[in-house]
Amino acid sequence: MKRVAILISGGGSNMLALVRDMVGDHPARPILVASNDPEASGLARAAALGMPVAAVDHRPFGKDRAAFEAALLAPLLAAEPDIICLAGFMRVLTPGFVQRFAGRMLNIHPSLLPKYPGLHTHARALAAGDTEAGCTVHEVTADLDAGPILGQARVPVLPGDDEASLAARVLAQEHRLYPAVLRRFAAGDRTPVLLP
Ligand code: GRF
Repeated sequence: MKRVAILISGGGSNMLALVRDMVGDHPARPILVASNDPEASGLARAAALGMPVAAVDHRPFGKDRAAFEAALLAPLLAAEPDIICLAGFMRVLTPGFVQRFAGRMLNIHPSLLPKYPGLHTHARALAAGDTEAGCTVHEVTADLDAGPILGQARVPVLPGDDEASLAARVLAQEHRLYPAVLRRFAAGDRTPVLLP
């Protein structure tokens, strides 16, 4: 049974989807939900499900990313995770941290990578006049939003869409894609999950 730690920064809707799916014959179980923001509402939602939670506020560390990560590593390593899922986690991780979990850290990004790495993905897709958008689960590597793709889900961009309506349509697919990818990944299968 693989042990999965989930890192969040906000509401944790992706975390909830992952936690709710890791039941029954699923080859993994969630063992920790941690955040860089002690006020992240996802922490209370995780605790309400009986999940162990941890928070390390990144703000006191200022620009010293390595010091923040050293503090985050304490509860993280204590949970002895096999897999780490970044789920709405909004901090850029140093190559040193990424290397420590090479090949076993996943992230979900709200675009069809390699298009639109970074922020404001929906606004950029709309501005480009794209007729299709979506989300990607990928292995985390030192290059931001650029690791091997483990799954993608596509949605149409509809006339009249704004950032909020497109984000909502993509988020609904994130909640389908990430659990499907984690279930396959935890079973040792890296075949990409491609949702229509
Ligand atoms: C969402 O915009 C999602 O696309 C991205 O992180 C944001 C918050 O997700 N992955 P969550 O509700 O905290 O999982």
